Amino acid sequence: TRTYPFTGAHQAGIATPAQDRLYLAAFDLTTSSRDEVVALLQRWTTIAARLTQGLSAGPYGPASGPYDAPPDDTGEAADLPPAGLTITFGFGRSMFVGSDGADRYGLASRLPGALVDLPHFPADNLDPARTGGDLVVQACADDPQIAVHAIRNLSRAAFGSATIRWTQLGYGRTSSTSTAQRTPRNLFGFKDGTANVKAEETSALDEHVWVPASAASADSTDSRWMTGGSYLVARRIRMRIEPWDRTSLREQENLVGRNKGEGAPLSGGTEFTEPDFTASGRGGQPLIATNAHVRLAHPDFNAGVRMLRRGYNFTDGNDSLGRLDAGLFFIAFVTDPRTHYIPMQNQLSKSDGLMEYLEHTGSGLFAVPPGIEDGHFVLGADGT
Ligand code: HEM
Repeated sequence: TRTYPFTGAHQAGIATPAQDRLYLAAFDLTTSSRDEVVALLQRWTTIAARLTQGLSAGPYGPASGPYDAPPDDTGEAADLPPAGLTITFGFGRSMFVGSDGADRYGLASRLPGALVDLPHFPADNLDPARTGGDLVVQACADDPQIAVHAIRNLSRAAFGSATIRWTQLGYGRTSSTSTAQRTPRNLFGFKDGTANVKAEETSALDEHVWVPASAASADSTDSRWMTGGSYLVARRIRMRIEPWDRTSLREQENLVGRNKGEGAPLSGGTEFTEPDFTASGRGGQPLIATNAHVRLAHPDFNAGVRMLRRGYNFTDGNDSLGRLDAGLFFIAFVTDPRTHYIPMQNQLSKSDGLMEYLEHTGSGLFAVPPGIEDGHFVLGADGT
């Protein structure tokens, strides 16, 4: 069974090969004490380092320790392997400046310029109860019980300092982050992740995913602590799958711009052939339509920008009309959302043909600090 190191230059769970399952939780801080926030991050660091190595949350484990105290681990992962668990932490803008502008923890001088409030995108229908948060924890594993166990035990350790604001369970990764991985499919039935930034593309990671040291010099605040980190964009995108399932194969392929079987661009070739957006068919129509998703998301139409996508399928039951509440929980890691996410999302929300079948119902943007070195405790700026 796989384990990934918890320490390193970057946090795990970004360029790590995407696991099959996700449990992501956004937390709100309930304490007004900066020391308690530091203590929480210290506890989380210690627990996450243990869990990702297949250990119990605390040193005693679920079935030993003081008999008159609750066990230091909840127990449901006791006999299971770590299943490639990664735990990735991030900070929301509201931790640095409250909605009333208050400097809640004396951190306003550390707010990175890139940690903006995302704008309202056309057709957004965001549920405040699925949006925002002071902290985020992304747990990914090949076993959902392992991912849920991680969030549950971290949430337990947050008691008195932070509470869960929203969570999202995901199954079936919708991207590949390594060339060794097979391309999976999203709930529209299309291969997803073909043109994703992959871990093997180290210069693309430096350009599009990791925050360079130079980013801090553009900020009026002191954001050096984000060097080597990344920004996590989360979007809960509900898919209108019932009308989609009544749409012709021709229409489905035209909206995506790739074929459904192999994932090849409609301009020809095989899955990994670069799309040719100039190719046209009979009647002079472009083979990849002007409103096709892959055209509008392609770097050629986005100032050369790429992103590392790491999303998951979700199904959260059904509504009273018998429609599945299903979709794609989109996660992307980018070097700066102002250049690498907001313009593309605006373009997609306005013009992407797929939007007729999509509804964005939740959202979050989080600053993910760089990895932790051995012997260090606190995530992000050593607690300073
Ligand atoms: C590519 C589906 C939302 C950005 C693709 C591909 C599919 C797809 C099938 C082609 C295969 C691939 O290269 O991965 C979807 C679906 C979505 C969705 C079903 C919503 C439920 C988004 C959003 C963004 C995005 C919100 C960013 C704002 C991209 C990018 C590519 C891509 C950057 C690669 C384009 C290229 O370089 O060729 N998507 N996508 N997608 N998508 Fe999406």
